[in-house]
Amino acid sequence: MSPSDFEPRPLDTHKPSSARIYHHMVTGEVIFESDLPFIQRLYDEIPFYPMWARHNRQFLARAVRYMAGNGIRQFLDIGAGLPTGGSTHEVAGEIIPQARVVYVDNDEEAINRARELLQRNQLLDTTAMIDADLREPERILDHPDTRRLIDFSKPVGLLLVSVLPWIPDASQPAALIATLRDAVAPGSHIAMTHVSLQDAGPEIKKQVAAGAAIFADASTPVTLRTRQQFETFFDGWKLVEPGITYATDWHPDQPLDNDDYARPCNFAALGNLP
Ligand SMILES: C[S@@+](CC[C@H](N)C(=O)[O-])C[C@H]1O[C@@H](n2cnc3c(N)ncnc32)[C@H](O)[C@@H]1O
Repeated sequence: MSPSDFEPRPLDTHKPSSARIYHHMVTGEVIFESDLPFIQRLYDEIPFYPMWARHNRQFLARAVRYMAGNGIRQFLDIGAGLPTGGSTHEVAGEIIPQARVVYVDNDEEAINRARELLQRNQLLDTTAMIDADLREPERILDHPDTRRLIDFSKPVGLLLVSVLPWIPDASQPAALIATLRDAVAPGSHIAMTHVSLQDAGPEIKKQVAAGAAIFADASTPVTLRTRQQFETFFDGWKLVEPGITYATDWHPDQPLDNDDYARPCNFAALGNLP
């Protein structure tokens, strides 16, 4: 897509979207007034959601920093969300000024905002936001913007940060990730997180189950997974130390808060391709 082709995608403002809600939890911004009742229900059921979301976002930045520090110069960020501080091109750009980033999302507001921002900041030579779905990985890999920006003979940094909960088992998430793995060069990295209740205390389990039911009602259903299920997504990848851990605990850059009861609800790991 050239800068002048940008046509905002039409929006359904009445149906809450996981992208807008997550963005609200990270930034506090209310994108549409019509999202407010849904947001309020989530606050009532999962009061720790904003903290969880910020910790997830901070993991993304640390993973990108790790990858860029290990020589990754091109990134495919799938389920990228609405642009906000600490986006992949900003974090990678601090280490690799000419880093290339292809963002992927299937949410209209995420696509519209990212395209507008990349265009306004004249970043389209090195970045793109493509409108595609993780459930169609070949479309992502073959997209003209992916082919323009990513050299598949060189290592790629794949980011699937908190997108897998939106992929039900019926869509075979492990096979989707395997398609991406088979397309990238040795030395590539992958970072993923996944909401889980496996290690959560009983009160948190109740809260998250109630929150998940709200999503199932009003937006996209969420799939919670165990550590073992999450681990299968790294098939063929060699996990970097400390392996599968909580997002807060992966290469932390600040002291861990042992009173953070949301901490066990988000598994995270980073792998590289031998
Ligand atoms: C919880 S947000 C995570 C945003 C960002 N990765 C982060 O961790 O800060 C999940 C994002 O995944 C996107 N998403 C959900 N299902 C998707 C799919 N099948 N294909 C592409 N994106 C998807 C949503 O629109 C949303 O922007």
